[in-house]
Amino acid sequence: MKVKDTGYTKEDLKQLAEQYMNETFQRFDFIAEEGDGMYILDEEGNKYLDFMGGIAVNSVGNAPKRVVDAIREQSTMIHASNYCYTIPQILLAKLICDSIGMDKIVYQNSGAEANEAMIKLARKYGVDNFGPNRYKIVTAKNSFHGRTLATLAATGQPGSAIQNGYEPFIPGFTYAEFNDLESFEAACDENTIAIMIEPVQGEGGVYPADVSFMQGLRKLCDEKNMLLLLDEVQTGWGRTGALMAYMRYGIKPDVVSMAKAMGGGMPIGAMCTTKELMKTFGPGAHGSTYAGNPVCCAAAYAQISEIIEKNLPERAEKTGAYLMNLLKTLPHVKEVRGLGLHIGVEFDFDIATELKYLCAERFLLMTAVRSNVIRLVPPLIVTEEECDMAVSIIKTAVEELALKK
Ligand SMILES: Cc1ncc(COP(=O)(O)O)c(C=O)c1O
Repeated sequence: MKVKDTGYTKEDLKQLAEQYMNETFQRFDFIAEEGDGMYILDEEGNKYLDFMGGIAVNSVGNAPKRVVDAIREQSTMIHASNYCYTIPQILLAKLICDSIGMDKIVYQNSGAEANEAMIKLARKYGVDNFGPNRYKIVTAKNSFHGRTLATLAATGQPGSAIQNGYEPFIPGFTYAEFNDLESFEAACDENTIAIMIEPVQGEGGVYPADVSFMQGLRKLCDEKNMLLLLDEVQTGWGRTGALMAYMRYGIKPDVVSMAKAMGGGMPIGAMCTTKELMKTFGPGAHGSTYAGNPVCCAAAYAQISEIIEKNLPERAEKTGAYLMNLLKTLPHVKEVRGLGLHIGVEFDFDIATELKYLCAERFLLMTAVRSNVIRLVPPLIVTEEECDMAVSIIKTAVEELALKK
């Protein structure tokens, strides 16, 4: 839908938004009307170079033809409920499980729900097999796992706006230092059933896990009969240079969650695990009205097929290395961190929010994840020329903001 089709002006629409919608996000000033590959077009036809990717979602680009066609084709059967078989659900399950080496999938509607299902499975598995006290999960400090009550409890950011006011959290979570194996060892006790971790802490400021840490967690879980739960909501489906980030670490989790890039912009998430572990979820043990919605599954099938067939993980690895090197040349950079095209830039002063809005005025989109850290998660189709353009816009903006410091 476009502003010109509504009978309202852009200012009218913004006024209506303020009047009728509750805002927990601070929006850019424009109205996103159309997606076109690496670009988002606003109501005046301005083209924004997209290094935000709808928050690490639009990995094949904005409104990619294959995904759009799949949605259109499936729209003769929009929703049937999980009492009926639908084809996209079945074919997507096979595609996902075969390509990431898992046996079975449980569909969900978002990243938080995918994690919620993963947490529920681990707790029920522990209680069913080892007794009523074996339900504890250790997660990392500075993690982000979602905004439902269980995933908020799993999130290790006490005192943040994300968590404030929602206590008491559901019990059973303890927190250890990210990238510190000894801290995780110390946090686990005889009632711990699982360790849950992001391979790259995204919302926490883009911190990749070390290989030795991830391999150490795998070993620790094996030794103590615990499950390794990987939250790949943000890292999954090519972003880090592998289909799933765990493939880069030479390990396999017991359970993996996914969402974001999976659906090409349609709301879908999932959790995958082994045949054995999935027995935990017998009839009635978990469910959702919309999960596995056929239109979302058709979109996800198209999106994931495109990621695999176009070798986008490899491309993310190569372009990511190019972009990270460029970013290191920016003024006032303290550190450039990341894996593939999951990149954070830390500056030596609190510049991130202002920088984000200044760049948007200059038609470049990105997100700020900490007061001094910006995050770049462009579609994986981004070219080196587009990286040059983005870094040149960021450079000028940083120089201007530094003068005002
Ligand atoms: C690692 C991680 N887990 C979970 C979530 C929550 O996903 P959603 O916003 O789809 O509920 C996010 C969202 O940013 C995330 O980055």
